[in-house]
Amino acid sequence: MCGIVGIIGKEPVAAGLVDALKRLEYRGYDSAGIATLESDGHLARRRAEGKLRNLETRLSEMPLQGTIGIGHTRWATHGAPTENNAHPHVTASVGVVHNGIIENFRELKDELKAAGAHFETETDSEVIAQLVAHLMSKGANPQDAVASALERLKGAFALVFIFEGHDRLLIGARRGSPLAVGHGDGEMFLGSDAIALSPFTNRVTYLEDGDWVVVTPDTLTIHDATGAEIERPVQTSLASALMVDKGNHRHFMLKEIYEQPEVIGHTLANYLDMSRQQPKMPEDLKFDFANLDRITITACGTAYYAGLVAKYWFEQYARIPVDIDVASEFRYRETPLKAGGLAIFISQSGETADTLASLRYCTAEKQHTLSIVNVRESTIARESEAILPTSAGPEIGVASTKAFTCQLAVLAALALEAARVRGTLSTEEINRLSRCLIEVPRQTSVALHAENAIEVIAKDLAKASDVLYLGRGLSFPLALEGALKLKEISYIHAEGYAAGELKHGPIALIDEQTPVVVVAPSDRLFEKTVSNMQEVAARGGRIILITDGEGADMAGDYAAEVVTMPKVDPFVQPLIYAIPVQLLAYHTAVVMGTDVDQPRNLAKSVTVE
Ligand code: F6R
Repeated sequence: MCGIVGIIGKEPVAAGLVDALKRLEYRGYDSAGIATLESDGHLARRRAEGKLRNLETRLSEMPLQGTIGIGHTRWATHGAPTENNAHPHVTASVGVVHNGIIENFRELKDELKAAGAHFETETDSEVIAQLVAHLMSKGANPQDAVASALERLKGAFALVFIFEGHDRLLIGARRGSPLAVGHGDGEMFLGSDAIALSPFTNRVTYLEDGDWVVVTPDTLTIHDATGAEIERPVQTSLASALMVDKGNHRHFMLKEIYEQPEVIGHTLANYLDMSRQQPKMPEDLKFDFANLDRITITACGTAYYAGLVAKYWFEQYARIPVDIDVASEFRYRETPLKAGGLAIFISQSGETADTLASLRYCTAEKQHTLSIVNVRESTIARESEAILPTSAGPEIGVASTKAFTCQLAVLAALALEAARVRGTLSTEEINRLSRCLIEVPRQTSVALHAENAIEVIAKDLAKASDVLYLGRGLSFPLALEGALKLKEISYIHAEGYAAGELKHGPIALIDEQTPVVVVAPSDRLFEKTVSNMQEVAARGGRIILITDGEGADMAGDYAAEVVTMPKVDPFVQPLIYAIPVQLLAYHTAVVMGTDVDQPRNLAKSVTVE
C-alpha cells in the first residue's frame, strides 16, 4: 500500500525522494507526489496520476531544489486516484504524507471546516495537514502541534511532516503502519521500509507502534505512545546488500519464480538437520507439540493457501486438528480459544492489518503465537512470541511466488517436527520425508523446465474469460492459489474448487469456452480426480492437466494439454506444483499485456482493512 519517505539532505532531495519511491513501487500505487521546502521558505509540490515516470516528467518540466522534502506513492482508499487527491497534502504551514486510514476523518473535517479550514481533496489524509496547521495557527510549535494532533487521530497511519520555515526538521509518526529512520552522515531519512532507505544508508532504526520522532540532520528524538522520550536501537539493514533489480528477467515476478530453488534451499537449511535428516527448530519455541490438542492458523490471500496446505500436513502426519481462517474473518469471529494453544500466523510482509489484528486477538486469548514472516523487522514478527522467518529475500512482484513456497518449506518442516515430537511418524518415516524435503530445491529446478510448454498453453488461456482450477487433497489449495494468481495478474476471472465439489455446482459452468486447469499428481486421490476430468471432458470442457509422467500416461488422453512435473512424494507436491501454476499465470499475463509486477488495484502489503 502507500509508501512514504522523507529526507533532510545536504543537496537537493527531489531525485533522492523519487529514487526511494521507486523502491516502494512494489507495494502498489496509483499516483505519486513529492514536496520540498524551497529556498524562499515555501513548500512546493509536484504530483501526478499513474506511474512515477509521470511524476518524473512533471519534475523535469518544473524542478524542485529544496534540501528537505517528503514523498508518497498513493494506493487510493478515500477518493479517486487523481492528481488532486495525491499526496503530499500541504497547507500554508505544513506538508504531510500518510500511509493508512484515518477513521474519524469526517468528524475532524467537520470540526476544522467549522473553524474556517478549506479542504481541497476527497481524502481522509488531508485532515491531518489541516489539523496540524490549525494547531500551529493557535501558536503551537511543530512538535507540540503534531503531538496534539496524534491524540486526535483514530485509525492506522505512518506519517511524515515538513513545516514551512523549518528547513532542518522532519517529524514522523507510526501507529499501525510501519516507519523506519535511516541514519546518514549529517543527513537523515524516513521511509516505509529499509528497502526505501537502501540507496542512502544501511543504518536503520525501526519505530515501534505508537512512536513519533523528531528528526534533524544530526539528531533523532523518539517519543513512545505515552509521549516519553525513548531510545530505539540502530540496526544494520541487509536491504542494500540484497539484489532488488530484475537481473536478466523481464519482470520481478519471473525472477522471483526462478529464485525458488535457491531460496527454498536457504529456508530449509534453517529448519532441517541435513545430516541427521530430521527437522530442527529454534530452541526457544515455548509450546510443546506433544500436549497440543489444536492449532489455529490465520493469514490472508496466498499466505492463507500456504496455511491450508499446512492444515493437511499437520492433520495427516502429526494428527493435530487445525482450524484455519482468513484473517479478515477470524479477527471478528470471536472464536473461543483454550489458553495455552498454538496460533500460527503466516505473512510475507509481516504488516498485513487483518493478520496483525488476529495475532493481537490470539495474544489476548493467551495463545502461544508463532509467525512465519519474510520481513523479520515487521510488526507481526515483533509482536509474536516466536518467529520462523522465511529466507525468500525481498519479494518485489506484487503477486507472491517465492514467499509462498518458502512458507510451505517452513510449514513442512514444522509439521514434521510436530510428528516427531508426538510420535505419530516413525523415525524412518521422518528421515524419509526429510530427505524428500531436501530434494525439493532440485525438483523445483526440474519443474521450471516446463516453462516453454506453459508459455505455449498461456497463449490460448489468454483468450478465455473464465477459467476453473480443480484439485483434491494437497492439490486443492494449489488450485485456489493458481486461480488467485491468474486473476490478480492477468485479470481473467478464475475460480479454484475442490475437484469433488464439481458436481455440487461448478459443473454448470463447463462449456467449450471455459478451460479447466486440473492439478493432479499421480497419488492416492488421482483416480478420483480423473473421474472428475472425465465429467468435464464429456461436457466439452478443455482440460489443461498438470501432473507427473505416470499421471500423463494414465489420463493424458482426456486433456487438451499436459504439463509434466517430476514424480515426487505426495508430502512435497505443493512445493513443486506451485511452480507451474505461477508460470501459467505469469505467461498468460504477459500475453494479455498487463502490468505483471504491479497489477491494477493491488497492493503488496495490505496495511489497512
Ligand atoms: C497474492 C498475494 C496476496 C498476499 C496477501 C497477504 O499473490 O500476494 O494475496 O499473499 O495480501 O500478504 P502477506 O503475506 O504480506 O500477509
